[in-house]
Amino acid sequence: MAVDVLVVGAYPREHAIAWKLKQSPRVGKIYIAPGNGGTDNVGQTVPIGVMEFEKLADFAVEKKIGFTVAGSDDPIVGGIGDVFRARGLKIWSPSKVAAQLEGSKAFAKEVMREAGVPTAEFKVFTEYEKAVSYVRAKGAPIVVKASGLALGKGVMVCQTLEEAESFLNDVMVKKIFKDSGNEVVIEEFLEGPEISIHALSDGKDFLIFPTSQDHKRSGDGNTGKNTGGMGVIAPLPWVTDAQIEDIRQRIVAPTILRMSDRGTPFQGLLYPGLMMTKNGAKVIEFNARFGCPEAEVYMRLMKSDLLDLLEASEGGTILSQKLEWHSGFAATVIVASGGYPDDYKKGLPITGIDEAEKVPGVVVFHAGTKKENGLLVTSGGRVLSVSGVGATLSEALDKAYEGISKIHFDGMYFRRDIGARTLEMR
Ligand code: AMP
Ligand code: GLY
Repeated sequence: MAVDVLVVGAYPREHAIAWKLKQSPRVGKIYIAPGNGGTDNVGQTVPIGVMEFEKLADFAVEKKIGFTVAGSDDPIVGGIGDVFRARGLKIWSPSKVAAQLEGSKAFAKEVMREAGVPTAEFKVFTEYEKAVSYVRAKGAPIVVKASGLALGKGVMVCQTLEEAESFLNDVMVKKIFKDSGNEVVIEEFLEGPEISIHALSDGKDFLIFPTSQDHKRSGDGNTGKNTGGMGVIAPLPWVTDAQIEDIRQRIVAPTILRMSDRGTPFQGLLYPGLMMTKNGAKVIEFNARFGCPEAEVYMRLMKSDLLDLLEASEGGTILSQKLEWHSGFAATVIVASGGYPDDYKKGLPITGIDEAEKVPGVVVFHAGTKKENGLLVTSGGRVLSVSGVGATLSEALDKAYEGISKIHFDGMYFRRDIGARTLEMR
């Protein structure tokens, strides 16, 4: 019998997950809560917010949803999994305590220390004066992180001591991230290319996806501020099988084992952001969900049935599944509103998405969009995630950029160098 599913989230990641679930012959109706201006092309958009757990659970009961997929960090870290399971509802989401791997950098560091997982040298502080003395003793460059979630803005890679001290003051004294600044992690600056790993776990075992790379800075050449991600490519041709094996053995396996030994098995997607340093891969952070925009390339490349995989992750049978991928490459480029990640306009009409999707190999996933009187307008900083696939990486990128050339809204902005470094490496 077909399974009706509910996808929780509003990002292009959840749009892509729903798009992929729609291809499953096992999936019946698809609901997306709250979705965005584009998600109604793959399912029914439901106006319930991602943090309204009881309302979402009521909806799942009412509609006889067989499987819920939590996409975004906020509900996952907030414990949507526990609320649904307490009501006997099936949901793909790590438990609240397991999601602390993402929700608390201090917790993640503790697990990494216990598991012997390579990560930047670090210290946790709750007192401003002590944090400042430590930074002075260590010198710059140095990295300061608010321990709680601060929408990706809680991290500052400080090139000078002045920068570090002023950020510590903002976070710990002025509390610009509120309680997220009660605890601060100060860590060693790691050098090397950054990659994303996705491991789908059932709490004991796991399957690893091909590697991918996000581009977090807002400007070409990795300049400008950190953002939620401006574009992703996958797979990375320069990461060797031996490196992936090393990541499996020294990072993913010990983390999954340690979480299980602690009595808080991690069932879901473990997404470590890694720095490929001269001394091997080191963990920058753990996420407890699909990356965004990583999901938009993985969903394009995945051949396996996504519902089968997520059910196996939830049900403790991941090794009964095989991960299969289409050959070739995928790329996605984020189209943002001018000004992002700072102030930007909203409500600007968007045109050309249909034309973009007529380009063979192009699919457009929505981020900050909404429909107003039937008209599609911008409603966020990151507006669209335009993805392309191709036999080669440059073909996939060309497709994505050709797709973007058909799209228009006032002040639209995108990076023109997604994947450029990887292309130069050949
Ligand atoms: P995070 O939220 O911890 O992933 O940090 C956001 C971004 O800051 C990362 O994607 C990196 O680009 C950068 N970053 C974080 N930690 C470090 C570090 N220890 N060394 C260098 N860059 C870092
Ligand atoms: N790709 C960045 C993130 O999902 O956190």
